[in-house]
Amino acid sequence: MTVPSKAPAVGRPDLRGRADIDRLVTAFYERALTDPVLESAFEILTIVGLEAHLPVVGDFWEQILFRTVRYQGEFVAVHDALHRQHDLAGEKLARWLHLWCETVDEMFTGPDAERAKTKAAAMAAAMERSWSGSRSRR
Ligand code: HEM
Repeated sequence: MTVPSKAPAVGRPDLRGRADIDRLVTAFYERALTDPVLESAFEILTIVGLEAHLPVVGDFWEQILFRTVRYQGEFVAVHDALHRQHDLAGEKLARWLHLWCETVDEMFTGPDAERAKTKAAAMAAAMERSWSGSRSRR
């Protein structure tokens, strides 16, 4: 999974802390939930509720980027279950990463913004690998 090339850095700050993460995550979900490739996979959030979900995702990114210890979720189990239902490998995962990187680039620039993209790309690649392994075992 490669990080898409970024827009020119004009007047954008780096990603600095939880308030920035919350703005980023909110902007990303506005796109993902209405994206033609992803919307069916995100449909569960109309049941779970976005208000409950966004703080969990914020905790996750705060921990990844700023080493807080807040996230207590089940990252792998949640996505494995979604993958079984919606086949997230390939197109959907690539689209997720594209939208994430595009949203980061439009809002932020700097070392932590870069890390938000490279960490996401590494996690998407790990998910892809684990799912292609289970496919070949079928
Ligand atoms: C095709 C790609 C992806 C789709 C469609 C997707 C969709 C979703 C959905 C629908 C949920 C909520 C599930 C639930 O509450 O039952 C969720 C949870 C989450 N997603 Fe993703 N996701 C994708 C990839 C990723 C990636 C690459 C990351 C991070 C790099 C990520 C981060 C998270 C986090 C932190 C949660 C919260 C998990 C928890 O409840 O502990 N997702 N995702």
